[in-house]
Amino acid sequence: TVLVVDFGAQYAQLIARRVRECNVFSEIVPCTMPVEEMLAKRPKAIILSGGPASVYEDGAPSAPEGLLETGVPTLGICYGHQVMAQALGGVVENSDVAEYGRTDIEVIDGGVLLSGLPAKQPVWMSHRDHTSVAPEGFTVTARTAVTPVAAMENRERGLYGVQFHPEVVHTEHGMAVLRHFLFEAAGCRPNWTMLNIAEEAIEAIRAQVGGKRAICGLSGGVDSAVAAALVQRAIGSRLTCVFVDHGLLRKGEAEQVEKDFVAATGVQLHVVDAQERFLSALAGVTDPETKRKIIGREFIRVFEQAAREIVAAHSGEDDDVEFLVQGTLYPDVVESGGGTGAANIKSHHNVGGLPEDLKFKLVEPLRTLFKDEVRALGEQLGLPPEIVWRHPFPGPGLAIRIIGEVTRERLDILREADAIAREELSAAGLDRDIWQFPVVLLADVRSVGVQGDSRTYGHPVVLRPVTSEDAMTADWARLPYDLLQRISTRITNEVREINRVVVDITSKPPGTIEWE
Ligand code: XMP
Repeated sequence: TVLVVDFGAQYAQLIARRVRECNVFSEIVPCTMPVEEMLAKRPKAIILSGGPASVYEDGAPSAPEGLLETGVPTLGICYGHQVMAQALGGVVENSDVAEYGRTDIEVIDGGVLLSGLPAKQPVWMSHRDHTSVAPEGFTVTARTAVTPVAAMENRERGLYGVQFHPEVVHTEHGMAVLRHFLFEAAGCRPNWTMLNIAEEAIEAIRAQVGGKRAICGLSGGVDSAVAAALVQRAIGSRLTCVFVDHGLLRKGEAEQVEKDFVAATGVQLHVVDAQERFLSALAGVTDPETKRKIIGREFIRVFEQAAREIVAAHSGEDDDVEFLVQGTLYPDVVESGGGTGAANIKSHHNVGGLPEDLKFKLVEPLRTLFKDEVRALGEQLGLPPEIVWRHPFPGPGLAIRIIGEVTRERLDILREADAIAREELSAAGLDRDIWQFPVVLLADVRSVGVQGDSRTYGHPVVLRPVTSEDAMTADWARLPYDLLQRISTRITNEVREINRVVVDITSKPPGTIEWE
């Protein structure tokens, strides 16, 4: 493993992903972790991440005691580079001139990290302080007009530092720098492949579940599908999947889970048709948070009931149902370890909120993976592309994309419009460039239109295509005009109740991705 020591901000996750793209496993550890604990993980290399602090600030995070004396090859990036320089007797200065964005570095001595790369190359910088004098024993390998020590290394001690960010795409040769560090400086081997990940995960699940049974809630999303497929490979028919059809799904979704997923995996599926129940619980409700709470509550009740039935059917057998499978991903694990209480913007729900008296042990085979890795794993496991590349879809479903009361008629209208938008996006070959593409029905708004010489008084829908890395932030997607036009024409022609199509051009923040 390669440890990425997190000094704050979002840089650490990106670095960990890039290391994994080199087929080397990496994990993120907080900079407060004692060095013995880090070494217990037997790292082949250590990377010190960037961070928002200045090494001069009171309380600025520093390298844990002894981190630079472990003998494990270590690379400091940005703030990590400054921490390294300062701790070893170099000079870090508060400079008048900051460097933000694209900057050219001049390579002085290729060293290990920059060997074979152009003498002048663009990198991404984001700093105010800089290292003006490298510690004794270090060779300065690159500088910029502003930063005298843009890169440095001490091969004997296995210590390397770069002021720029090799992990961001704007650093043209960033991946080469990382590869040089991992493979040449640290002697890592590129053996972390999807095949190995799948095999190891299946082994680990077998060891954990033993001869017992497990259940898994399927949402139709890629995470629960891949988690279920892995567990199914490991324990076969001792896994039962539960799929709750709450009637708030998109067109074709229930069929996709019932047919495609079962066909690809052979999993045992327990489908609960709870459409009536959800619709009556939602009758008359317009407030977004109330909708979310009702759906979360009903979902848990239905799921719990199904789980009880499955448990009852097998209780007393040698293979009791003891385990619940969840598609928890690495960012959730890292973020919940972060400790900082984020504000409750919206009450998200998934199967996580099961009551205490339903005691299951958790199986979380995706705990160490990022979303794109989960997709690659899904492909490795032979899941169909419609499942692997499906856009994220919220648990409360179309209910939070109908602004106003949720009724069966409104759901039908939105389902049609949504299907058209998705169909056209796929036909344009843009599925994988777009993170998500909600279509929102403004059910209580009407506007005047004209169609076939007569006046119409229909509802608008909002197209909300966004690009994103992780849904924490998002940008509105610049879809081609002719695609937008095709979607607009088809929706207004084919969905009688809709006579106007608008596009949401708000980024997140300040908007959220969903409207409710
Ligand atoms: P927002 O609207 O907060 O959404 O920008 C961020 C991401 O989360 C999804 N989302 C949910 N997912 N249960 C889920 O499983 C929920 O209750 C829920 N609400 C929002 C949203 O689709 C986007 O991907």
